[in-house]
Amino acid sequence: MKTIHKFSAIALVAMIVITSGCGSKRSPGRVYMPDMAYSRTYEAYDLLDSTKFTGDVNNKGGNMIYFNAMPAAGSIKRGDLFPYTLPNDSIGYNMSGAIANPVGELSVADMAEAGRLYNINCAVCHGAKGKANGPMSGKVGGIVDITLPQYQALGDGTIFHVMTYGKNNMGSYASQLTKEQRWKIVKYVRTLQGGGAAATSDSTNTATAVPDSTANAKKTM
Ligand code: HEC
Repeated sequence: MKTIHKFSAIALVAMIVITSGCGSKRSPGRVYMPDMAYSRTYEAYDLLDSTKFTGDVNNKGGNMIYFNAMPAAGSIKRGDLFPYTLPNDSIGYNMSGAIANPVGELSVADMAEAGRLYNINCAVCHGAKGKANGPMSGKVGGIVDITLPQYQALGDGTIFHVMTYGKNNMGSYASQLTKEQRWKIVKYVRTLQGGGAAATSDSTNTATAVPDSTANAKKTM
């Protein structure tokens, strides 16, 4: 008899313990290890109290935003080219001519790809052959014939600089084209200018097919 009482008492206590955690679905109830129930989450884009979370003495007490920070200045993505550090001003423009093209001789496939990128991004203004006769000529002021001697004389770095920052009515292509793509396009521009070892790629399918598509685009616009 005594044993039965003891047993039911234990069972009752066990039931209370088990069920007490289930009162509400949202509450974990009694928790044995709070660190596990209430994990310390770092919410993306949440404002955190920088007195607790930052070692930045200049920003103590202010709020800081977690997890959307830009990479540290000077970080280079694996496999990426070195950052282009010349500033977007006349000094940077003048110095850019001295920057060598880090991309070597392009293979036929790479040149075709550079031509494809040129036709997507540049031909709309400069024309498939660089003669300033793209569909936007006349609609955007000041488009130049980049095959003229004065543009042949520009350094590779300057053409890259202009693509990176834009110039007057020409916008920046830094967000559309990677650094490598921009340097490759410089090589393609050289072929339009009639120079460079790959000038013969004018006779490849891409280069000849493209003027047609631009011409069609012009007709339909
Ligand atoms: C929206 C039309 C437009 C597009 C698209 C465009 N450009 Fe231009 N580009 C211009 C205009 C306008 C100028 C003349 C800028 C000036 O000197 O006032 C120019 C100038 C240039 C120059 C001469 C730069 C110099 O230093 O004088 C080069 C080279 C050039 N563009 C290459 C490109 C390349 C490569 C692309 C594609 C990535 C491109 N452009 C896309 C409008 C455009």
